[in-house]
Amino acid sequence: MIEDQLPSVLFVSSESRPFASTGGLADVAEALPNELNRRGVRMERVMPLYRSVVEGQGTGGYRLQKTLHTLKIPMGHEVIDADIYSCEHRGTLTYFVGCEEFFDRTELYALPHREYRDNFKRFLFFQKAVVALIDFLGRPYEVIHLNDWQTGLIPLLLEKGINGIGRARREKVLFTIHNLAYQGLYPATNLYDTNLPGNQLQNYPELEFYGKINLMKAGLQKADRVNTVSPTYAREIETPAFGYGLDGVLRALPVPVVGVVNGVDTDVWNPETDPALPANYSVSSLKGKETCKSALVGEFGLKYDREVPLFVLVGRLVEQKGVDILAQAMERMMNFPLQFLLLGSGQEVYHHLVNEWNQRWPERFRGKIGYNVDLSHRMEAGADFFLMPSAFEPCGLNQLYSHRYGTIPIVNRTGGLVDTVTDLRKDPGHGNGFHMGSYSPEALLECIREAISLFHDKKSLRKYRQHAMKHDVSWSKTAGEYLNLYQNL
Ligand code: ADP
Ligand code: GLC
Repeated sequence: MIEDQLPSVLFVSSESRPFASTGGLADVAEALPNELNRRGVRMERVMPLYRSVVEGQGTGGYRLQKTLHTLKIPMGHEVIDADIYSCEHRGTLTYFVGCEEFFDRTELYALPHREYRDNFKRFLFFQKAVVALIDFLGRPYEVIHLNDWQTGLIPLLLEKGINGIGRARREKVLFTIHNLAYQGLYPATNLYDTNLPGNQLQNYPELEFYGKINLMKAGLQKADRVNTVSPTYAREIETPAFGYGLDGVLRALPVPVVGVVNGVDTDVWNPETDPALPANYSVSSLKGKETCKSALVGEFGLKYDREVPLFVLVGRLVEQKGVDILAQAMERMMNFPLQFLLLGSGQEVYHHLVNEWNQRWPERFRGKIGYNVDLSHRMEAGADFFLMPSAFEPCGLNQLYSHRYGTIPIVNRTGGLVDTVTDLRKDPGHGNGFHMGSYSPEALLECIREAISLFHDKKSLRKYRQHAMKHDVSWSKTAGEYLNLYQNL
């Protein structure tokens, strides 16, 4: 690649806003390619055509086009059609891999009580279709940017071909870890569908993990370069406590894993223009924030009181997000003079828990089970404090959205939360949040108590809100680091 020539890149992801989303990967998959296209990189995206992608046309502000290509994808002894769709949205062209059997479902990966049983087959099909598409298009990409386990087999497929007869791989591969806790672990018997030559697991040590197929491991070992979404998480995952069994693999990589902090799509997350809010506001005029708060409290059916601080939590209801310690803190938290609103979905046990809390503290707690992007914007805007007591957090985006919206985040000291939130007690000159002293209900309660005092000290509150809102959380800061990674490949 010539030094000053920008690379052509295919960004491969199992989800992207505004088409389909379960978490932060979708935010990154939307914003990063858009930002790099603005800088002149030729970057395209590919993802599965889920039911929600089709149904979101109109409300999502995009229109799909069926291209004339139907690709024939070998899957073991079967051949399954992949219908390719495309859509140009906000400056980036996205390809969609359509197949009703695999993707026309209510959810992306899982129902609340179980994962879809054929996820290996679904995402193997997706990955093979990506390689088939690259070849169909005449191999136009210099770099393939892969994300998480759903794309981990692609480097091997780029080498061996999708029917096992070989393929010369000319593309360079960057693999980004968004979350090492999800690895795509499947029984070895699934290998048959890959059509990899000599399809015995012992022939593929890069795939093998305690007798199973591990798609994340394959991605890490076969990519040309690996990165993750914050410097602190990059260090953490090289230790057994955060490595989920892959810390040894990571430590042994020829080039160490580098951390690049995620940014925010500042056009979408902008309190001055956000159409989801009942009132807009800015760092110099915060009046609208109070309107957002009173409307939000009303939207959840609670009584608004300007003198009561409002805490919110939006997120996937899974262990990672610290729901366990929140549950242990809940009784004591509900004795404090505050209101607390929650929006989330995830594991069924936590849905029950939230419903129990709704019954138990109807005056001060309201939780909604569901996924609602507009409401998440109103919660970021209306809140005084945002809770993120995550057990681990590769980067985290909600603390950055909180900063944009002048909401003070309370975070555990882990992963990207360390790299993006400055404790206002330790550094009053720059502070924009609270760090919990440890991962415990007591540490969370201690921060909540201090947050309540801060809330009543209006002058300091205004100062820290301003620090938060002035924190540059845009992609313009870190997108260039991805460009460097591509160019160094
Ligand atoms: P993770 O990717 O681990 O879920 P992040 O903080 O990186 O965590 O990103 C989560 C993203 O998903 C944010 O944009 C957040 O607002 C969004 N999100 C999570 N749960 C919901 C929900 N129930 N409704 C709307 N948005 C949600
Ligand atoms: C993952 C992580 C989250 C990160 C997101 C986007 O889902 O859990 O911390 O912000 O990916 O990189």
